Amino acid sequence: MTIAEHSPAATSTNAAAHAGPPTPRGPASAALLDLLTGRAAHSPESLGAIGEAVDAALAGFAETGQTGAGDDAAPVTGPAVDPAADPGAFLHHDDLQLTLFLLYLLHYGPAPYVAGDFEWDPDLLTIRAHIEDAFERVLRTVVQVPEPPTAGSAERTPGRAVTETLFAMTDAVAKPKLAMWAGRKATEEQLRELLVLRSIYTLREADPHSWAIPRLRGRAKAALVEIQSDEYGNGRPGRMHAEIFAGTLRGMGLSDAPDAYVDRVPAITLASLNMMSFFGLHRRLRGAIAGHLAAFEMTSSIPNKHYARAFRRHGHDTDVTWYFDEHVEADAVHEQIAGHDLAGGLADEEPELAGDIVFGAAASLHMDDLIGAHMDAAWSAGRSALRDDGAAGQPGTAATMSAAQNSEDAGAADDAEAPDAR
Ligand SMILES: [Fe+2]
Ligand SMILES: [Fe+2]
Repeated sequence: MTIAEHSPAATSTNAAAHAGPPTPRGPASAALLDLLTGRAAHSPESLGAIGEAVDAALAGFAETGQTGAGDDAAPVTGPAVDPAADPGAFLHHDDLQLTLFLLYLLHYGPAPYVAGDFEWDPDLLTIRAHIEDAFERVLRTVVQVPEPPTAGSAERTPGRAVTETLFAMTDAVAKPKLAMWAGRKATEEQLRELLVLRSIYTLREADPHSWAIPRLRGRAKAALVEIQSDEYGNGRPGRMHAEIFAGTLRGMGLSDAPDAYVDRVPAITLASLNMMSFFGLHRRLRGAIAGHLAAFEMTSSIPNKHYARAFRRHGHDTDVTWYFDEHVEADAVHEQIAGHDLAGGLADEEPELAGDIVFGAAASLHMDDLIGAHMDAAWSAGRSALRDDGAAGQPGTAATMSAAQNSEDAGAADDAEAPDAR
């Protein structure tokens, strides 16, 4: 079976056709889903079960006794990630990433299976803070951050220095190997997988960065609002990027229901969105979310040109390619606004945030590298990049067969040795 045949609402254009609760990926997400769906009463016992499962999963990744999270809390201090553990494994931890995804989902919605008002539940916020504490320690351990930019003259203001650093960082990934490979060789089924992997974020595109709007001032705020206004269609609902992407999904026979494919995406996909939510929801990390968006915009225009070509190569028209075509144009503008006025403006306003702006950009690039490596590894081995949905036998059986039948080169990622996810 193909992905489309497994779609919960493969041809649905009904916005109300939301997905049901995701399948738990371990004791923590199972206990949380029991509470959220009403299978377990809101009680010290049910909350304790979630907390204990989270603490058990966190053991080895970080100190979990103290939480440094919370708006304007001091940056986390204390021991770094346990050197005996592989900190990067945190980003691939299914149970922790799904648990954190669900806790953030309470702020975003839609999640009609949630039976009750849990958004500001203090016990769940405490549990979330424990996971976030470990998340930040891991990110600050594994993400390679360039030397902090230095401002040394009237011309080279803190903002100018940050802008130059960001453009240098993103220039280094200017050749989007995965997108270039996809433009020439990806099969129809692999393109569907790409869309499924992107659907978790892109059906709520721009939302995580919008948390930053009230946390910024002046030039940086104006720049962010200008970008977000485009992302949200400038007052025209049908031009919202998330809506345009929904059309791409429908055009490819996929469901456009939010989170319809959450069971099919690997932990690293959830980690990518979780990182944006984490940065966006903490005023302390406003530098990181600004840097994240800048890197995002700076590495978007060229890859999207290749993705548009990939879908056209398979005979798809603008109903499918509009999303990618739109970003070729829009993000060529957005990258300038984000690099100069958002990131640069913020660094000029608050120079002490320069390091976190660069950190957020580096974290964005790091996460894309991990997602790209995941797709490369799967497709190079002739496997699906998606998780098994429990109905198709071996993971990725359908996509593998489809890829082998449709591709001239089923080994496929021959010239995508170290792709990024752009
Ligand atoms: Fe966009
Ligand atoms: Fe954009």
